[in-house]
Order: sequence, then C-alpha cells, then structure tokens
Amino acid sequence: MRLTSDEQAMLDGAGGPARQKAMDLLVRYAEALGAEAFVDTNNVAGVPGSSTLFLKNYYQQHAGQSDYEAIYSLYDLDADEIVAVPRANAYCCHLQGGMDPDNWAELGMTEEAHAHFQQDEAQVAARGIQILKTCTPYLAGNLPVKGQHCAWMESSAVVFCNSVLGARTNTEGRESTSAATLTGKIPDWGLHRVECRYGTYHIEVGVPVTSVMDWGLLGYFIGYAVEENIPVVSGHVSQPDLIRHKHFGAAAASSGGVEMYHIVGITPEAATPEMAFGPHKPVATIGYGQADRQQMYDRLNSVGHDPHVDYVMLGCPHASIEQMWEVAKLLEGKKIHGGCRLWVFTSRSVKTIADLNGYTRVIQDAGGLVMTDTCSAISRAVPKGTKVVALDSAKQAHYLPAMVGVEAWFGSTEDCIQAALNGRWNGGLR
Ligand code: F3S
Repeated sequence: MRLTSDEQAMLDGAGGPARQKAMDLLVRYAEALGAEAFVDTNNVAGVPGSSTLFLKNYYQQHAGQSDYEAIYSLYDLDADEIVAVPRANAYCCHLQGGMDPDNWAELGMTEEAHAHFQQDEAQVAARGIQILKTCTPYLAGNLPVKGQHCAWMESSAVVFCNSVLGARTNTEGRESTSAATLTGKIPDWGLHRVECRYGTYHIEVGVPVTSVMDWGLLGYFIGYAVEENIPVVSGHVSQPDLIRHKHFGAAAASSGGVEMYHIVGITPEAATPEMAFGPHKPVATIGYGQADRQQMYDRLNSVGHDPHVDYVMLGCPHASIEQMWEVAKLLEGKKIHGGCRLWVFTSRSVKTIADLNGYTRVIQDAGGLVMTDTCSAISRAVPKGTKVVALDSAKQAHYLPAMVGVEAWFGSTEDCIQAALNGRWNGGLR
C-alpha cells in the first residue's frame, strides 16, 4: 500500500495507541480488498464502541473487562490490548441503536439493559460522536454531498448515499467505521472510484411505478434480479420523492445487495444512459412488468394468512417528518382497534419536530406509539402476543417475520393504517 506521511505517522503511533490500532486494522482491511491507497473521509456513520448487554457480558467473561474502551479496543479495533479511546477525528454520527430511550420497557428491555444503554450513550457522546441514532442520518443532520467520500454502515443508508446524493461509500462494517472515526481514512476501493460506479444491468420498467408501495415492489424485484450489481432504471417510472427513493433503495438492498442504482434522468450520475453506463455495455436488459409486480407482491405477502392483524409497524427506514404528518392525518380523530397495536419508528430529530407539530400527540391519542432509535427488526421486538403484523416496508417484510416468528402482510401505508383501525387486513395490489 502507498501510505501518505500522516497515515504512516499514525501507523507508527504518532497519534496515540488507539489511532495506531485503527490504522493497523485499516491497512489489513485495505490489503485484503486489494486497495492501494486510502481516501480521506470526514463523514462516518457507524456504531463506534456501542454495545449491548450481550456483548458486555461476553467481553467480561472472555477478557475480564467490558467497559466502553475495552469493547472499542478488542471488538471494534480488533486489538490485542485495551487502549484509551480518544475523541473522534472525523465527523461521525451514530446509526440506529437497539432501544428507545423512553419506551424501552414496551420493547421488552430490562432496567439493567436500559442503564447500560445510557452509560454507553454518554461514552459515545463524550467522544464527539453525534447521537443521531437512526438509519436515516441524511434526514437527521448528516447529509453528504455529491462526490464526498464517506464511510457508512447500514445498507438502506448506503444505497441512498451513493444513488440519491451522489456521495461515495461502500457498505462498511462496524470495525472499519470505528477505525475511520479515529483516523479519517478509508480504503480507496469500490464505490469510492469512478470506474466502479457505472451501471451494469439495464432495468426497463414497463408498468407505471408511482406510489411508495410501487417503488418498494420495484426495488424488491431489482434486488433479486441484479443481486450486488448496479442497476440502471429507465422506462415507466414517475419522478420519485425522498420517501420513494428511501423505500426503493432499502428494498433493493434487502432482496439483493444493491449499494448503488441509477435512474436515467433522475439520479445525479445518470443524466443520460451513456453517463449511467460509462464505457460499459449493459450485461443484460431485464424487463419489469405487471406479472413481476404481482409476483413481488405475492412474495412479500407469502407469510400472511390470518386476516386478524394485531400489530402494525411503520417507519422502515425511519419515517421522515412528511411521513409522520401523513400518519397523523390518517389517524386524526380515530381510534386504533382494541386488539391491535401501532408503533411508528423515526429518529429523535424527526420526533422532536413531530412533537412540536402535534403529530406525536395525534398518533398517541389514537392509541399508537412513536418510538426512536430502533425498529422491530433491530430490537427483535414486537408487542407481546403478536401473531400477525402489517407492514408498509418491503425491507421490514423481508426480515421481520422470520426474525420474530410472526405472519406478515405487506401493503401501502393507508392499508396498514386501515388494518390498525379495523384489526383486519384488507389490503391488495391496486
Ligand atoms: Fe431502519 Fe430498522 Fe428498517 S434500522 S432501515 S427501520 S430495518
């Protein structure tokens, strides 16, 4: 690898032992990838040093120490000794955690777990890491711009970062983001490089794609179709807004491993098909029609049998303020069915605005709950006794049923709200 003088100095220990360990980890990582150099990054999204009670107990048992610095050293930095962890070098935000700071008991968490969560968060904040606690950092204070090199975890955020914002990140892991937080470096590899950002598969959309549900279905189809490649979408799609991009990208990153997509005439690196594909010819052109749309809908509803819905979950990826407004409008003056629960997940920043605008109150008055920091899949938590859930997110529908052993229906936000009000699933592909 070619190291700059500041990188070599960090590797030699000039920045202290934690930065030395972080650089050592990044060099090993870069060499494994085949990268020849690093890029500077001042935008990291990760979970530096954070832990659950499970992790804490594991390190206590295996290393005899389990405080914040022990976990950062031994787990995040893969070091063989515990070192003092300094303040962040790069601008870094904390992604979703596993617990709502207020409604943790609803999620089935213990007082001990909550006390650990609070201690952990104080340690993170003390090191200058922003407590955004969301999978949508771009809605809560971390909005990178076109061309900016980032080091992000969280597949739904990564695909948004690359595709919609035109910023550059691979899907990093906990270790590389924690090391990048201390060093401001990440391997110059993959989606950091222009030649790796061109499209490989052409998706020709032959059926109108307009609603949020439509965009989720299209994303879910594309993930299966292209797996980890870069799709270039053209055809019968209407201008997507932020919510549609969010649901589309999250779905494609769930059924496949899509980290970047182009939509011709819409996303920043795809003004024309030539620009999207660069010097390459598409490997294949794949059509998306009515039968594909129906197949995706059926697949997402394949674990829904019982029409009695006892839990509705919204906010995957975390709800924007616009979505909070829409949910409040749909619930205003109504009451959720006695046999059903509604949880809406968002970031703390968005909830603050939802509180100010009265949306949280409207949702609560209807019998719902607004939660932050996490979601049912991340916390593996659903209301006690849940057997059948309704979801408006293809990503959540992909993961949650198997994770917590429930039946699931997938549909529009309106279908889900109706299910919450009536306790019955009456959705469909319209
Ligand atoms: Fe976010 Fe949970 Fe979905 S962390 S993207 S709401 S699975």
